[in-house]
Amino acid sequence: MSVVSINPDVMGESRRVCIAGTGSYAPERVMTNADFEKIVDTSDEWIVTRTGIRERHMARDDETTSDMAAEAARRALAAAGIGPEEVQMIVVATITPDMPFPNTGCLVQDKIGARGAFCFDVEAACSGFVYALELGRQYVSSGALDTVLVIGAEKMSSMTDWTDRSTCVLFGDGAGAAVLRPCRRGRGLMTSVMGSDGSLAELLMVPGGGSRNPTSHETVDKGLHYLKMEGREVFKYAVNNMTAAAREALEKSGLSLEDVACVIPHQANVRIIQAIAQRLHAPIEKFFINVDRYGNTSGASVGIAMDEAVRGGRVKAGDVVMLLVFGGGFTWGCSLLEWGKRS
Ligand code: UT7
Repeated sequence: MSVVSINPDVMGESRRVCIAGTGSYAPERVMTNADFEKIVDTSDEWIVTRTGIRERHMARDDETTSDMAAEAARRALAAAGIGPEEVQMIVVATITPDMPFPNTGCLVQDKIGARGAFCFDVEAACSGFVYALELGRQYVSSGALDTVLVIGAEKMSSMTDWTDRSTCVLFGDGAGAAVLRPCRRGRGLMTSVMGSDGSLAELLMVPGGGSRNPTSHETVDKGLHYLKMEGREVFKYAVNNMTAAAREALEKSGLSLEDVACVIPHQANVRIIQAIAQRLHAPIEKFFINVDRYGNTSGASVGIAMDEAVRGGRVKAGDVVMLLVFGGGFTWGCSLLEWGKRS
């Protein structure tokens, strides 16, 4: 196992950083709204009108977050034409790691054979992919590293309370990945705006299993290991903060929304996306939406959506793309990038 040396001599040089390839993975098993009608008091009509979700992918019992992350990573590396041995850093954004430690990045490293990488996880809930992307960008931009693998991966079904209709219908499993490399042409990853508000942490959380409520029979009996959400409150903050972050990122980069070819938002609820589009006075067609087929895959959502947008031809070379996220913490962020003009 080699050690990656971060070269201090070139730090601060500021290179442009491109996404050289993307990949994603969704488990084979699909749960439709009709399947939920059989287990909780809900209806396809309620779920579709309140969320836009029609189906979501669910991992097998023996399928872990690192399994999904590794498959998305293999596809991203193939798209970039890069072998696993070239990867110097793996950062996995997840709130559903295989286990408290070791980190999921290390498990992915082993699965894909990226023996030369150093690896860790980032936890910023549904904002995790953009946070990890920004972290990776800093390493490549500074000249410290040349090849970084960023992955968002979640097995949300592992923290779902299947008796709580207000949350169980919302989430899905999957993974999205991107390979970061220096680029000679085009702007690559440009502006990022990120924010957090820990005073609102309790509105979206898994209360058990950490140092506050260590796992015990009691925490299990009380259901503290399940995701808890004050949906209506989260909705409000998501719309406000994502809209503000989008405006700030555009202002910082001297761009207007007309310059942006495609907005790829966190896929939690189509009504959140519609409200943001309305506030930004942007046509909804500018927003890439796949929440109908995936539900909310938390830290994986933007990575999966970006891969679908690229492979489906929705994002083309030279397009300016906006990634826009919000999640537990609260955390939020917006990244602007120019797609695909790599040397
Ligand atoms: O990824 C991190 C960010 N997460 C989000 O952005 C999620 C944000 N929140 C939301 O997307 C929405 O708030 C939800 C989809 C979670 C809920 O939609 P809502 O329009 O805010 O509904 P609500 O919570 O105000 O509930 C309305 C009604 C309630 O019944 P009463 O009290 O009016 O009689 C709920 O009990 O809908 C009921 N309800 C359901 N009914 C059928 C809640 N869940 C369900 C359900 N099926 N699955």
